[in-house]
Amino acid sequence: MDTRVCWQCEQVVSPVSEDTFLACPQCGVIQLDQVIAGDCLEVMKRIPNESVHFAVTSPPYNLGVGYDIYDDTRAYEEYLSWLEKVWLETKRVLVPGGRFALNVAPTSIKNFRPIHYDMARSITENVGLTMRTEILWYKQTMKKRTAWGSWKSPRNPHILPSWEYVLVFSKGSWRLHGDTEQADITKEEFMRFSDGFWYIPPASQRNGHPSPFPEELIYRLVKFYTYRGNIVLDMFGGTGTAALVASRTGRHYLHIDISEEYCATARRRLLAAEQLPLYEKPPVVSIKRIREATTPTYRQRRTRPKVESRHS
Ligand SMILES: C[S@@+](CC[C@H](N)C(=O)[O-])C[C@H]1O[C@@H](n2cnc3c(N)ncnc32)[C@H](O)[C@@H]1O
Repeated sequence: MDTRVCWQCEQVVSPVSEDTFLACPQCGVIQLDQVIAGDCLEVMKRIPNESVHFAVTSPPYNLGVGYDIYDDTRAYEEYLSWLEKVWLETKRVLVPGGRFALNVAPTSIKNFRPIHYDMARSITENVGLTMRTEILWYKQTMKKRTAWGSWKSPRNPHILPSWEYVLVFSKGSWRLHGDTEQADITKEEFMRFSDGFWYIPPASQRNGHPSPFPEELIYRLVKFYTYRGNIVLDMFGGTGTAALVASRTGRHYLHIDISEEYCATARRRLLAAEQLPLYEKPPVVSIKRIREATTPTYRQRRTRPKVESRHS
């Protein structure tokens, strides 16, 4: 049985069972590289301040999607204010310069609401994160086109959304400091991913979930926004795609989902991924080390971010 040292208080933590280290008995902090079944607002309280480099998630859609146990039909204002509490916790746990990538889908034609505007406003104005960009994830899910709304007539035609958004925010500084030797994105990837129109088909395997991320979407975000060894959090983790990609690319993960069933699937996927040749185990990390690495040196503080011209 594996034992390890708590990443906050550096005391030895014993596993609760063969493969589970839930929280440190000394300081109560949840340990890294875990799939945790629970309500994200409760679980996130046990993540230390300024410890996560990248939060990436897609919250419940509030469109009556048939999730395992969550009822996806809240009143709209209540839905937004519940999520705002989650985003406030997200801000607390992000390191200075840490990023938050939020995937949201356009709502239905019948009850159209500009949900991405509302979320962007809530996160910038009420939560206080800085909006950095909007990635258009083009899924092209319409295989057969027939008449939607009024066929070939301006009487009442409908636009069908075949895309989703990824809204990207940062906490405080635009820059995320880290060891440049741990930046592992290739030149080709950087050039491809920095064009914000991403054509990525939806996940081909659903693993029993109604709306899983495709691995490619998370791979691009993780490679673009994090260094190897960084910590990636998905607080609405579903069947574990963000955790899986983080661990396969040498990052640490924290996965939370309210459904035991989805968490069990995520654990199975992570276990299977450890057998794959591409799997990279990230080095041991501590909060002390994270704070040192994300605090800019005097020289770094003096160099201001270069802002590109609108037409470049
Ligand atoms: C859009 S899905 C995320 C799917 C995920 N991106 C994947 O790749 O599988 C939203 C998830 O939020 C979970 N959820 C709903 N309420 C929650 C809560 N209070 N805390 C944590 N997870 C919750 C649902 O069980 C569902 O799996």
